Amino acid sequence: MELKLVTNQKIAHKRVFLRVDYNVPLRKIAHDFKVVDDARIRRSLKTLQFLIENKSTVIIATHLGRPKGHFQANLSTKPLAESLAKIVQRQVVFCPALKFSELKTCIDQAPPGSLIMMENLRFFPGEELNDQKWARQLASLADVYINEAFSTAHRKHASIIGLPQYLPAFAGFGFNEEVNQLSQLISRPKRPFVVIVGGAKISDKVAAVKNLTKIANIVLVGGGVANNFLAADGYNTANSYLQEKKTVNGQKSNYIPFAKNLLRQTKRRRFLKDGYIPLPKIVYPTDVVAAKSLTAHTKKIIQLYSQDEKHQLDDHLMYLDIGPKTIKLFREIILGAGTVFWNGPMGVFENDAFATGTREIAQAIAKSSAYTVVGGGDTLAAVDKFGLSHRFDYISAAGGAALDFLSGKMLPGVKPLVREN
Ligand code: 3PG
Repeated sequence: MELKLVTNQKIAHKRVFLRVDYNVPLRKIAHDFKVVDDARIRRSLKTLQFLIENKSTVIIATHLGRPKGHFQANLSTKPLAESLAKIVQRQVVFCPALKFSELKTCIDQAPPGSLIMMENLRFFPGEELNDQKWARQLASLADVYINEAFSTAHRKHASIIGLPQYLPAFAGFGFNEEVNQLSQLISRPKRPFVVIVGGAKISDKVAAVKNLTKIANIVLVGGGVANNFLAADGYNTANSYLQEKKTVNGQKSNYIPFAKNLLRQTKRRRFLKDGYIPLPKIVYPTDVVAAKSLTAHTKKIIQLYSQDEKHQLDDHLMYLDIGPKTIKLFREIILGAGTVFWNGPMGVFENDAFATGTREIAQAIAKSSAYTVVGGGDTLAAVDKFGLSHRFDYISAAGGAALDFLSGKMLPGVKPLVREN
């Protein structure tokens, strides 16, 4: 898939509407909110620099949190404008307007070549509804639209899918890089392709796991996600977290049937470790670290041999990390990989008592000679904690959007940017 990329002729001295994803953590210090982690802001710099060099007037627009169409002081983009100004060492005009007419006046008054940041897109009720009047109003402010927010490309909002209907639309450099990296994973990964999935919640990973199971040579599951596969194969998961979901008739259900189905579908597919040791396509832990609470310091290693184990298990125990045997197996598989994609920690890494699995897996990926791609908010927080962020070939800033893309879907925000031959 090739995206429409912006060129100098298209944007020089023009007004550009730049949709970014500066959905970053803020902290209140004294009376003001400050950006805690500016990584997402920095990701837009290449595109921003290109626009500055071409003397474009840039209307920078982002969402922040989920204010649902109403002003919320703690979700104002003002601190983002301040943070960006410091990073680019230039003035960023902040437009606090909450009415379109005021926003237009603010933008019209800014000198040509300015960087202008508008208020949180989600303060405007038309944004999430993809209201066409709102999309047309936004479009009337600019000559060209650039999307640099791949991490929101799964949302059908006005600034993502509405605006490109009314303006020449292009992908920002970072957006294009995300699409290229993720496309490479699903179209031509160097083999063996090893996928590692973890994290507490399975709901947002179901479609991606399903698709990646078809593409990858082997899928290693850890974290809360693994509990579903353990339960599906008849293991006792005691008091471990199993995400619930509501069925169409409002009843409670869970993801064990999904895991059961996937295990059944892949039953006959084998991965030959070291070329001769047969392993199943989906590998879940053979041992786990368990404790009675997330904050506990007393932990126990449990061997998950068979269903008989349930008779000896304390029902209050929760599985909070993968155990040493599982770490050893996962490491060996990772070190023999050609490509690795990792999304989701192996345990509750925020508590040092349950961080070993995640740390060891992160270190193995960092050490491997494979092409390595890491994604998802918690995973990035984990690699950051272990000081390994710079040790991977690509770090995806997108959580839900990347997973949707890897599930094989055409994302609504990508579609208008695809080059037609
Ligand atoms: C993210 O943080 O993943 C993106 O900014 C999307 O945010 P949303 O889930 O609130 O749409």
